[in-house]
Amino acid sequence: MTRRFLFVLGSSRSDGNTELLARRAAEQLPAHVDQHWIDLATHPLPDFEDLRHDSDHVRPTEGNVALLLDATLAATDIVIASPLYWYSVSAHVKRYLDYWSGWLRTPGLDFKATLAGRTLWGVTALAHEETEVADPLIGTLNHSAAYMGMRFGGVLLGNGSKPGDVLKDTEALTRAKTFFAQEAPLAHFPYEAQ
Ligand SMILES: Cc1cc2nc3c(=O)[nH]c(=O)nc-3n(C[C@H](O)[C@H](O)[C@H](O)COP(=O)(O)O)c2cc1C
Repeated sequence: MTRRFLFVLGSSRSDGNTELLARRAAEQLPAHVDQHWIDLATHPLPDFEDLRHDSDHVRPTEGNVALLLDATLAATDIVIASPLYWYSVSAHVKRYLDYWSGWLRTPGLDFKATLAGRTLWGVTALAHEETEVADPLIGTLNHSAAYMGMRFGGVLLGNGSKPGDVLKDTEALTRAKTFFAQEAPLAHFPYEAQ
């Protein structure tokens, strides 16, 4: 299957560190790999409504929800490019992931079966020097991948506060060069035997 990468940008500002780092990593992808970039700030999702237990979710046919759904279903690789906000993913990204819960219950989508075996990746920028503070974000993405039966490629971390700072993080730029070339094993919950 031809690989198709969906980059989901989750910052609340344009041209931030997370996107800069994600673009550095994406530059290394072979030319035949399709790249689709969607910025959640310019393609906002409405508030998620939990209809799982009282009515049928209907497949969206228009607007940003349909755009995100179709792009998600089409992707072999989904890259969550979220800044670290309060030690986890941004609200934009959290809302996008909340929509996955609705799509799991939407008749005719086979959302879980479609995503199973595909790969989730993360890219994040953070101001804190000690990268272990990003563990909650990494856990969110790992556990979400495990729940979905997906592979998890890990999270590319870069340091920065104001836009452009991450370009001074030479170690992050070096990691970006090989990030998407890494093996992405099937994700596991921490309590599962590997
Ligand atoms: C709402 C908000 C919450 C933040 N929370 C954290 C945090 O928990 N830890 C941290 O190290 N940096 C935090 N930061 C700093 C950002 O992660 C940092 O500025 C990063 O470069 C932003 O990414 P961007 O340039 O892609 O927007 C926060 C920034 C904002 C605006």
